[in-house]
Amino acid sequence: MRICRTSSEMQQACRELKKNTVPERGLGFVPTMGALHAGHLSLIALARAECDVVVASIFVNPRQFAAGEDFAVYPREFEEDCRKLESAGVEILFAPAPDDMYPSGATTFVEVEGIGNRLDGASRPGHFRGVATVVAKLFNIVGPDRAYFGQKDAAQVAVLRAMVRDLNFPVNLVACPTVREEDGLAMSSRNRYLSADERRRALILSRTLEAAQHLVKTEVRGAQVLRDALPEALAADPLLQIDYVAVVDPGTLEPIENIDNGALIAIAAWFGKTRLIDNVVIEPVAQRANPDLSQAPARELSHA
Ligand code: PAJ
Repeated sequence: MRICRTSSEMQQACRELKKNTVPERGLGFVPTMGALHAGHLSLIALARAECDVVVASIFVNPRQFAAGEDFAVYPREFEEDCRKLESAGVEILFAPAPDDMYPSGATTFVEVEGIGNRLDGASRPGHFRGVATVVAKLFNIVGPDRAYFGQKDAAQVAVLRAMVRDLNFPVNLVACPTVREEDGLAMSSRNRYLSADERRRALILSRTLEAAQHLVKTEVRGAQVLRDALPEALAADPLLQIDYVAVVDPGTLEPIENIDNGALIAIAAWFGKTRLIDNVVIEPVAQRANPDLSQAPARELSHA
């Protein structure tokens, strides 16, 4: 695996890589901030399966952390990450220094108005401006045909889809399913901040979302019922602090009334000093794989 440390070296390397490969299935790109776990590696595996060549980046992007957030202590495990990426079949890794990405005088930002200020964008002002700016730069440096992002960060996916559309990036953005620990906790580089007790309590997020999915399958169609039920379920842990509970359109992140056309149910909550997020996507009724038969009209059931 080749490691490029500067934007110009990376841009050159990716151009050569594209020139030297039959452009059948294109160049796949997986941007990360490192401290890689099985969630990140699932994106690499999908890119590997779908593309001719796979490129990844590790860059803890200072511009997406607000003052007082965890930028300084964010886990950095470069050697181990390199081993993981190499055995996952990554051809080139881009690992720039902050000065290379943001030399003094770099004052251009990408801001996705509206969507970028909802959910995590509302709780972490400036966060998605930092994310959109760095991803736009990475797209320009790498020139990917397909770029892979985790559905775990659902709002990030919505913001970046809007950016790709609005700025005509010739990139196909692929959203990949959330990878979970065996007990259901969504994998995250920040899980390592949790104490043993917080780690145990954090399960309430995935369990509450499972319960919400069950409600949707069996009876509930109105979003407000979910917006009321979720905080009630989360109140079972009196130490947890809810940041947001959202039932929104997965594309616009705007609150919806009815979930028949699909919905994103998302939670952000604090466990001590650690903020965790998790979500589930509810498919539109017409696309739901296992419609609950108990909801089918009686005459249909009688045919079964
Ligand atoms: P990071 O948190 O390192 O995540 C890199 C990618 O891995 C993101 O697309 C994220 O959604 C995905 N990911 C994280 N946990 C996952 C899980 N449990 N299952 C599936 N995918 C998961 O997200 C970022 O970095 C940054 O904002 C970045 C896009 C790199 C821009 O700086």
